[in-house]
This record gives sequence, structure tokens and C-alpha cells, in this order.
Amino acid sequence: MSKKILIIGGEGNGGVVAACIEDMRLRHRILEWEVAGFINDYEQSVSGYPVLGGTGDVQDILRRHSDYYLMWAIHTIGRNYLIEKVFNKANIPTERLATIVHPSAFVAPTAHLEPGVFVMSNCYVGPSAHIGLCCMLMANSLVAHDTRVGPLCHFSAGSITGSYNTIGKCSSIAYGTVVLEKKNIGNFAVAGASSLVTKDIPDGEIHIGIPARFMKKVMEA
Ligand SMILES: CC(C)(COP(=O)(O)OP(=O)(O)OC[C@H]1O[C@@H](n2cnc3c(N)ncnc32)[C@H](O)[C@@H]1OP(=O)(O)O)[C@@H](O)C(=O)NCCC(=O)NCCS
Repeated sequence: MSKKILIIGGEGNGGVVAACIEDMRLRHRILEWEVAGFINDYEQSVSGYPVLGGTGDVQDILRRHSDYYLMWAIHTIGRNYLIEKVFNKANIPTERLATIVHPSAFVAPTAHLEPGVFVMSNCYVGPSAHIGLCCMLMANSLVAHDTRVGPLCHFSAGSITGSYNTIGKCSSIAYGTVVLEKKNIGNFAVAGASSLVTKDIPDGEIHIGIPARFMKKVMEA
């Protein structure tokens, strides 16, 4: 029997998670997970699924549905402090987090995925890479060997994060961006779309361009 999952988020990232699970079920006959609905602070339904409550209701929902699992899918690029704030409010027990890897993704046997990680189609996670709690790797994103990623980070479609990098918490590597090897990307930091990151990005800063340079600070929560 499939395990029931509630997706915390909206139709952007959350809709991608739902589509991934549907694809695993329908095309690949992997029936481990079944989407039971969403948790969302604003909508009544998301991508055709019912919303069971808001982020403040997570504890209550987990009590009422003791066999349900959760997938975190909130990542507001440019408002990165907000992600941690909402995540802490939800206070999800680690053992109730799902980990989902699309069957077309490659995750090296020596890579480590913490609970709640989402890996979409055609991703690559290299040997000895470490992906933190509730990170999202969107389609065709690559994280190379020996790179260490903190919790709640987001790798947009087509991003390439090189080897021996360190990324803090709640940071974003946007669409099509390349991060060269041995860089430090701080907490709540953003590498903007189609950038080439050749230098470290300090905490709370957005860098863009080729090579990437400081653009502005991320918004305060
Ligand atoms: C970094 C980012 C957040 C900046 O967005 P923003 O603050 O809304 O910036 P704006 O669109 O207001 O643009 C401000 C200026 O910077 C430029 N700019 C914005 N993003 C840029 C980028 N990635 N590279 C180069 N220039 C960029 C704009 O052209 C504009 O220039 P102008 O003032 O000369 O017209 C955005 O580029 C980005 O990367 N978004 C995330 C995309 C993504 O991966 N989404 C995933 C969803 S799942």
C-alpha cells in the first residue's frame, strides 16, 4: 500500500513534487507514495489536490493522520529568511519527512541525502555529496562530488554546482547557474539565474552575472 504524503507549499515547487509522484506512479509503476493533499496558508486546493490546513496546523494534522508523511516545498528565492521562519513554525518531526528521488536521477551510493530531500528527474548527485534536510533539486540540476549543502536549499532546473563546495542553509542556486568548485555560498544566499559563480557568496547576498557579482541583499523576513 502506498504511503500518504502531504506537500507543504503551492503549485510552483509543490506542484512539481506532486507531478513527480504522479509520474513515478503512472509511468514507472513506483507506488511508494500517494499525494493526499497540500498544506498551504492561502489556498483551498492546489494543483487539483485538497488543502488540509495551513503551516500553523501541521502538528494537529500530523496527530489526526498518524500515517501521513510530509514533503517541504516552500522556497521563496530572494526572501530566503522567510523560508527558515515558516519551516521552524511548522516544527515537523524528522521521522515524518518523506524523501523522494525520481527514478531517472543518479544519486551516487556514497552521497548522503538527509530526510525531506526532493530530487527531480535527470538530476545528478555525485559521490560523497551531502544534501541537507528538505533541500530541493529541481529537474536536470547537478551537485558534484564532495559538495556539502545545508538544510532548505533549492537548486533550480539546469543548475550545475561543482565539487568541494559548501553551501549554508536556505540558499538558492537559480536556473542554469554554474558554481565553480571549492566555493563557499553562505546562509540565505542566492546565485541568480544564468550566473557563473567564481567567488564565494556571503550570507544573505544575491549575486548575478558572468562572473557573478553582488546585486543586492535578500529581503529581511
Ligand atoms: C536574482 C533574481 C532573484 C533577481 O530578481 P529581481 O530582484 O526580481 O530582479 P529584477 O527582475 O527586478 O531585475 C533588476 C535588474 O537586474 C537584472 N537582472 C535580474 N536578474 C538577473 C540575472 N539573473 N542576471 C543578470 N541580470 C539580471 C534585470 O535585467 C534588471 O536590470 P535593469 O534594472 O537594467 O532593467 C533573479 O534573477 C533570479 O535568479 N530568480 C530566480 C529564478 C529561479 O531560479 N526560479 C526558480 C523557480 S522554481
